[in-house]
Amino acid sequence: MGMRDGVVTRLEIDLDALLDNYRAVIDLVSPAEVVAVVKSEAYGHGAVPIARHLQEFGGCRQFAVATVAEGIQLRRNDIAGEVVVMGGTLPVEYSTMAEYDLTPTHGDCEGIVAWADLARTLGKRLPYNLKVDVGLGRMGLLPDRGEEAARLALSLDDDIDLLGIGSHLSHPAGSEAHNREEFERFQGFCAPFLDAFPSLDRHLAASQAAVRFRDMHLDRVRIGGLLYGLNHIRPAPVCLKPVMEYRSALIQVKTLPAGWWIGYNQQYRVTEPLRIGVIPLGWTDGLSSYHVGSGHLLVDGKPCSILGTCTDFAMLDLSSVPEARAGDEVVLVGCQGDAYLGAIELGRAAGMSTGQLLGKISLRVPRLFYRGGAFVEELSIIGGGA
Ligand SMILES: Cc1ncc(COP(=O)(O)O)c(C=O)c1O
Repeated sequence: MGMRDGVVTRLEIDLDALLDNYRAVIDLVSPAEVVAVVKSEAYGHGAVPIARHLQEFGGCRQFAVATVAEGIQLRRNDIAGEVVVMGGTLPVEYSTMAEYDLTPTHGDCEGIVAWADLARTLGKRLPYNLKVDVGLGRMGLLPDRGEEAARLALSLDDDIDLLGIGSHLSHPAGSEAHNREEFERFQGFCAPFLDAFPSLDRHLAASQAAVRFRDMHLDRVRIGGLLYGLNHIRPAPVCLKPVMEYRSALIQVKTLPAGWWIGYNQQYRVTEPLRIGVIPLGWTDGLSSYHVGSGHLLVDGKPCSILGTCTDFAMLDLSSVPEARAGDEVVLVGCQGDAYLGAIELGRAAGMSTGQLLGKISLRVPRLFYRGGAFVEELSIIGGGA
């Protein structure tokens, strides 16, 4: 791919890799359907270009977001098909959801009743999903309320259209017994619905469970991480390609004397003269103070420890790259020479999940999209375009 003129710090997004991953996931979970999770700006990659590419070239017709605004963003950018709002919503948001043809996820009976009231007012049948809490302790009906919810859904079936029932495992990388228990809770909740709603889609698995537990694929899987080439489960039964590379450059290289401090609140003390490199990104761009002392970035294919972080800067130990100069490339995620640094590792260094890390990279870092090796689009605070 390579640097675009005049853009120092950037995320480079490989749309071909995205599509390959999408197809690999389809193969993995078929006949279950894949819902593409594009919330949180498609895990920092850029929701609109990602969804558009999946729709146009992958034929994707099912997208999931977390908030109403994220759903509107997709609709205003010509994303058709089903857009499910997975997060919790309140009745004040319902008419907007209906206007934009978004499918809400209801986690309590009050929400279902209010959605049906709106459907009657509008004179049109509105779709919805139901959410069960199988052990995460967040949104959703508790599993013992299946009978009651099924009776309610049936009584409102003339007004609203129950498309699916979903839940989310609390610890898909945890013990198999724990996951099986949550799976059974989910199946138990769904059981009273099956006769009355034979075409209902059950969906429980996200990326990790899709890779680990084939019998939990059910009718649909909601996939975020795998689409973006992020697989925490090894060995991987599916070959994925990293979609994002995150690159910047050294803006200053200098030697600090012994006794000098680095970073706010004196994050690191120099004990003997030390060559450091300053980079033009920091907390606003994905790094955190927890990276200090535990994370590293690549310069000239070598790992360089992060010695300090600020809102807009980070400082690296350049002792392993004595030739490094201002202007040299720094890799936060991606390949450099024979070295590779993954988003999973960069997040882990700061005790963050990949989702947490990527969600912290603000839009001031331009997203540059490539197809067939050629630049096609830019997403940034100053606009852009092909
Ligand atoms: C309800 C729900 N489904 C699916 C996903 C996608 O998860 P993953 O990125 O692990 O595929 C998420 C992500 O947090 C989620 O909250």
